[in-house]
Amino acid sequence: MRSFVEAPYPVKLSGWALFKGEPGALEPNAGVLPYDVATPLFSDFAEKYRTVWVPPGSPARYHATETFDFPVGTVLSKTFMYPRGPRTGAPEGSAGNGDRSRRLVETRLLVHAKEGWVSLPYVWDEDGKDATLGLVGTTVPVEWKDARGEVRTLAYEVPNANQCLGCHEHDKRMTPIGLKARHLNKPFAYEPGGENQLARMVRAGVLDRAPADSPHSAVWNQPASGTLEQRARAYLDANCGHCHSPHGPAASTALDLRATADTPRKLGVCKPPVAAGRGSGSTLLYDIVPGKPEESILVYRLKSTDPGVMMPEVGRTLVHEEGVELLSEWVRQMKGSCKD
Ligand code: HEC
Ligand code: HEC
Repeated sequence: MRSFVEAPYPVKLSGWALFKGEPGALEPNAGVLPYDVATPLFSDFAEKYRTVWVPPGSPARYHATETFDFPVGTVLSKTFMYPRGPRTGAPEGSAGNGDRSRRLVETRLLVHAKEGWVSLPYVWDEDGKDATLGLVGTTVPVEWKDARGEVRTLAYEVPNANQCLGCHEHDKRMTPIGLKARHLNKPFAYEPGGENQLARMVRAGVLDRAPADSPHSAVWNQPASGTLEQRARAYLDANCGHCHSPHGPAASTALDLRATADTPRKLGVCKPPVAAGRGSGSTLLYDIVPGKPEESILVYRLKSTDPGVMMPEVGRTLVHEEGVELLSEWVRQMKGSCKD
């Protein structure tokens, strides 16, 4: 593993030596720890493989609700890929096992440089052997088989380096999003044995401590992991909360979709939108109307693929039907009305 804290950054992903072994096998190098998050961000059905590396002897500082405080030199990576064969139902994050039957698309790095967090998107070469720094964004044709075995195709959109800030912004500065206690407090299938991720991070010197009462999020599509309410809130937290927070790019909407939001109004219940018009379907009055998903702007925008309407506004081109179903169900069982 090599870390760079100022420009020029390596033009090839291999310049960081994050991975060893066969090119493209994503086998983490010494000190590079894979992880995943309880409920991920929907990104057009791409599968993701994430790693964290901190300079030896400098663990991140734990925080109960915010992103952990990582030292300068930290390198975080997230690789997007499409399996070529049918999905096996293998847990997310278990991809680093040398499975060659997938199309690697991009590896995004967030590096804690001297000037603050820097975003470096690397786009994989067609042969899957290395990836090249591509700051301008591009589209990559991909193909995969969905859960029903149907072949689906897509012009996958690799964001440009400026778009990263559109989601990763906290009080106007770039920040990591997923490395929070509630997203990480779950088991991970390390090789050879599984372990709680926070505990492993402490043992590996990546994190300074992991209190026994650390919060944890539900898994949006696993009913055993939480109630409908908890899973819907986990979905909103992971897919919307980075923008819809008092510190994020959508702060002006006063809609707070983080797990920490503590009133129905902050979540949009009976809240009129800041801007009427297309984004509100022209006739809809509130972000959420209890019992009425079809009258709720939040559901309407989740269902849309119109660039002027859809939420999130970047990061997807397809509708996440399963996510729409979950949030519709959540709104449907809410009691009350907006008239009284
Ligand atoms: C649509 C919103 C969105 C955009 C655009 C986006 N990200 Fe992210 N990113 C997220 C979210 C949400 C997470 C945390 C959840 C996860 O890991 O899936 C994340 C996680 C990451 C991670 C893992 C560490 C962390 O922050 O949790 C890296 C590295 C990363 N993004 C890099 C980038 C780079 C580089 C770009 C621009 C090329 C970018 N991202 C664009 C939303 C976005
Ligand atoms: C990349 C940042 C970003 C992400 C991620 C995002 N939004 Fe938004 N959202 C915005 C911005 C900016 C606005 C205000 C402009 C507009 O209405 O289009 C907005 C407006 C809204 C509104 C209207 C709110 C109001 O009261 O005015 C709703 C509802 C909404 N978003 C729902 C969602 C949901 C649900 C998600 C997650 C599935 C989500 N958004 C994810 C940036 C984002």
